[in-house]
Amino acid sequence: MTLLDAALRARANAHAPYSGFKVGAALRCPDGRVFAGCNVENIAYPEGTCAEAGAIAAMVAEGGRVIAEVVVVADSAIPVTPCGGCRQKLAEFAPPDTPVILAGLEGELTRTTVGALLPGAFDAAQMGAAAP
Ligand code: THU
Repeated sequence: MTLLDAALRARANAHAPYSGFKVGAALRCPDGRVFAGCNVENIAYPEGTCAEAGAIAAMVAEGGRVIAEVVVVADSAIPVTPCGGCRQKLAEFAPPDTPVILAGLEGELTRTTVGALLPGAFDAAQMGAAAP
């Protein structure tokens, strides 16, 4: 199964009754493992979570800590890009040159990188002596 297939499969299970906008995401770890997620909305609207956050949580729960590639898919003719919060979440586990493929239901629309999506990301180096 391709990364896009995994994202499409997760998207089909999205819980998006409030926006009506289903999103799927899938990521691959350097060891080949694939984790997928979908958006999960909530009647308390701010409590909804994005597809990317779901995929990252699934990866971390299985011990994964490095993202090598990401696909985000939605029913859109123009690329659906990760929200600001998800860009920061991706940057936690993905080097700046990590490919992010943005796809519609018919396939890839464009590709970018984690670094291009979040230039100047906050980094542990900026914390000086307080860095973890
Ligand atoms: N959404 C995602 O899951 N990922 C994105 O990259 C963009 C937006 C979701 C959040 C919400 O459930 C719906 O799409 C509409 O904003």
